Amino acid sequence: MPRKRKTSSIYLDHASTTPVRPEVLEAMLPYFSETFGNASSIHKFGQKAKKALEDAREIVAECIGAEAKEIYFMSGGTESDNLAIKGIVHAHKNKGRHLITSNIEHHAVLDCCKYLEDGAYEVTYLPVDRFGVIDLQAIEKAMQPETVLISVMLANNETGTLQPISDIAKITRQRGVPLHTDAVQAIGKIPVDVDELGVDLLSISGHKIYGPKGIGALYVRRGTKFDPLLHGGHQERQKRPSTESVASIVGLAKAMELAREEMQTSSRRLADLRDRLERRIQERIPHTYLNGHPENRLPNILNMSFGFVEGESLLLTLDMQGIAVSTGSACTSGATEPSHVLRAMGVAAAVMQGSLRFSLGRDNTEEEIDSAVESLTEIVQRLRQMSPLYAEKMGR
Ligand SMILES: Cc1ncc(COP(=O)(O)O)c(C=O)c1O
Repeated sequence: MPRKRKTSSIYLDHASTTPVRPEVLEAMLPYFSETFGNASSIHKFGQKAKKALEDAREIVAECIGAEAKEIYFMSGGTESDNLAIKGIVHAHKNKGRHLITSNIEHHAVLDCCKYLEDGAYEVTYLPVDRFGVIDLQAIEKAMQPETVLISVMLANNETGTLQPISDIAKITRQRGVPLHTDAVQAIGKIPVDVDELGVDLLSISGHKIYGPKGIGALYVRRGTKFDPLLHGGHQERQKRPSTESVASIVGLAKAMELAREEMQTSSRRLADLRDRLERRIQERIPHTYLNGHPENRLPNILNMSFGFVEGESLLLTLDMQGIAVSTGSACTSGATEPSHVLRAMGVAAAVMQGSLRFSLGRDNTEEEIDSAVESLTEIVQRLRQMSPLYAEKMGR
């Protein structure tokens, strides 16, 4: 018998987006109304906005071990990835037209690279192993004298697997090639320091860390030449013209500051919850597989495949019971294409079909995890009863 619909909801999709924290909202509110000035205006209204903008820049920079003038605010992670990639390759087009990235990047990077391939750039897509980790030797091999950029994400948004960015930086530094990392999922979950990582460009987004949507930043190491994507004003040192969204920028800074302050305790708590979820799923549901690295991973993401069921059916049935999860990155949900990340890891097609991403957040509790596992167990059992492949496996 199907379970009765639950009245309360359990949100396990924080890698898609997070709610704005009350402290963040409170910090933002004055900049919608009383402190509404244009940060470019010379009068006092403008000066107040400009001060908030520059204070926020200091905070964001400090959170990643950068200098304030190395931070450029923009509309989100997607724009930040696009500016990093297109900005660098355009500025270095006389040196060469080859760039390197990986098969498991977010679409903000992959689609940007595909677009450049149409426009006479050559792109090498690095393979990953079965845990989703890039092979350093493949980078050495892919490097050419014409290589002008390497872009590899810090943490994968579908599996949480971490990449050896500081080791990659050792290779790129020797060759004088700029290294970009998409740190959108890593910020606030693990310590991120641009010098320790050795990166030249790093992308940040607000809405994954309890900040507002539509805001992000790009870190660009001092002295790194890059072209803007937009033209039309002097804002952000002409690298990202358009009147700055001061309220959102203040919100991003506040969210990053809080995330950094609380990281140690919150990451430990998230990892405990994730481990509980993983353990309980494995104890209760046979034929389940972990996708991603078992150790080198973010504390809040768990990607598991459930044999003999469709991830999409699982997601929809869980949703009917008030439990929100994802089958992969939010940007591809709705499309039935299998995950490019799991495919790159060599996950078998049948296993890939039944994958779910659980991404935990600060408000999740042990009770919610246990309740989600209870629902999941019952739903998987029910869906498997309808699977001819499962019946065959069970000898029925
Ligand atoms: C790894 C990664 N990069 C980039 C993005 C895009 O960020 P935004 O939604 O701020 O454009 C996301 C969002 O899903 C992401 O997970």
